[in-house]
Amino acid sequence: MNKIVIAIDGYSGCGKSSTAKAVAKDLGYTYIDSGAMYRAATLHFLNSFLSPANPHDVEKGLKSLEISFHLNPDTLKQETYLNGLNVENEIRSMRISNKVSEIATIAAVRKELVAQQQRLGKKKGVVMDGRDIGSVVFPNADLKVFMTADLDTRAVRRQDELLEKGELVDLADIKANLAERDRVDSSRAESPLKKMPDAVEVDTSNSTFAEQVGKIVHIARQIIDKQESYAGNH
Ligand code: CDP
Ligand code: CDP
Repeated sequence: MNKIVIAIDGYSGCGKSSTAKAVAKDLGYTYIDSGAMYRAATLHFLNSFLSPANPHDVEKGLKSLEISFHLNPDTLKQETYLNGLNVENEIRSMRISNKVSEIATIAAVRKELVAQQQRLGKKKGVVMDGRDIGSVVFPNADLKVFMTADLDTRAVRRQDELLEKGELVDLADIKANLAERDRVDSSRAESPLKKMPDAVEVDTSNSTFAEQVGKIVHIARQIIDKQESYAGNH
């Protein structure tokens, strides 16, 4: 079967990664969480006491940064590793959420991570979510999705997620973090978050999880069928 590349971009906490993961599972594709890579890079800079404002520190940090994804054999969930250590839980903490958008504005960091993401997606059959996937990482993606949801809904969902991981965070703090990251991510000079003209917008504020997954899988299958019938006729 013909394999395609699906790029899912959008605001913080609107359901991109969980939806992308479910879409990938349904299609038998690989899911790549580009946000996890920026989060792991942020943890690396914090742990190494490297200053993102100092270009030498940034260079040093990138040279010693190795990010990989491995399947947990018990939960069958993909987990993020930084220099050989499992950092899946740590990178989702508020400590990292409060710093990640600053690290993601650094051009050298983006250049390195985008190159890694492009290598990971080379074989197609990939669903990747982030902020610049349809615009910079895979500008020729076969399907581009732009996800949105209202801020209150996103904050409540993120609070539930953090609680499940044992971190109790005030709703107002989560809302402030999401709003601030949306602001920084949309206004930065380097590949800002924006809806591409060829992206399909999916607002998850009032949809069920199954509905949004079903909608994206449906569009993806239509594209795959179209490409296959085109290939069959040529
Ligand atoms: O899951 P959540 O929406 O909270 O964020 P994430 O996808 O884990 O991404 C964390 C941060 O990394 C974002 O707020 C962006 O600052 C940055 N990021 C980015 O700049 N480009 C990407 N392709 C993915 C994430
Ligand atoms: O990746 P992003 O930050 O955009 O969102 P996420 O990490 O997937 O978090 C969204 C959370 O909202 C997850 O816990 C989802 O299960 C939940 N959710 C959703 O995505 N869509 C709904 N319609 C309802 C809940």
